[in-house]
Amino acid sequence: MTIPKDTAAFTLAASATLSLEETVRTRRSYRGFLPTPVPDAVLQEVLQDAQNAPSNCNTQPWHTHIVRGAKLAELSEAMHSDNDAGRHTPDFSFDMDEYVEPYLGRQKAQGKAYFEAMNVMRADMDGRHRAAARNLSFFGAPQVALLFMPSFGDNVRVGGDIGMYGQTFLLSLAARRLGGIPQTMLGFFAGTVRELLAIPETQKLLFGISFGYPDEEAPGNRVRMDRVPVSESVTFHS
Ligand SMILES: Cc1cc2nc3c(=O)[nH]c(=O)nc-3n(C[C@H](O)[C@H](O)[C@H](O)COP(=O)(O)O)c2cc1C
Repeated sequence: MTIPKDTAAFTLAASATLSLEETVRTRRSYRGFLPTPVPDAVLQEVLQDAQNAPSNCNTQPWHTHIVRGAKLAELSEAMHSDNDAGRHTPDFSFDMDEYVEPYLGRQKAQGKAYFEAMNVMRADMDGRHRAAARNLSFFGAPQVALLFMPSFGDNVRVGGDIGMYGQTFLLSLAARRLGGIPQTMLGFFAGTVRELLAIPETQKLLFGISFGYPDEEAPGNRVRMDRVPVSESVTFHS
């Protein structure tokens, strides 16, 4: 049975959570969302779950900005305009040219899967630019969570903490049959985001999570990424 999305029954259904195993094994990144906003009551539950993430020395360094409505449209427009002009203001570097094997091969496979799902040919640079730019429209999601953090030292520990928070947020969504996608690309426009949302310079943007009700029919959601066997990632010692 499909429950209409603007009803109290749907909100209730979204608050009934899947088992841990179903949650972690069905979570995936969505790149296409319905315009229906996530009700506040459900969002509060997700934020409470994420708040329980572990962190170094319990510092809880996450500062989450939820953007929706007119502000979201304004943000999207500003980021698209920056992107088209090649104006990037990231807080943290990200250079895919630094990947070496076996990570490089996995990164290439991920890009190929997305562009194929979007019917973009390898040599079509304009098409690739447009497909990547869908990140800046939040893949149609009517809300985004922007994960800001303070900057300490080389930021590796704080970055790890934000990762813990982000995954808890994503799993909480998945458990409620909602979906999200972590997006480093949103961090390329950190300066613009800070200015538009009046966020102090001391807060740095690591990544964002567009989220909501997945549009199962969207081409971007045809992507399914596999995993290498556990034995390639885990070494036992005794
Ligand atoms: C921190 C982080 C940043 C990411 N940034 C982006 C992004 O900017 N755009 C995008 O389309 N996917 C992004 N992804 C999604 C990954 O491509 C995705 O997690 C990976 O391919 C595995 O697929 P799955 O999440 O569906 O299992 C990001 C993932 C993580 C963890």
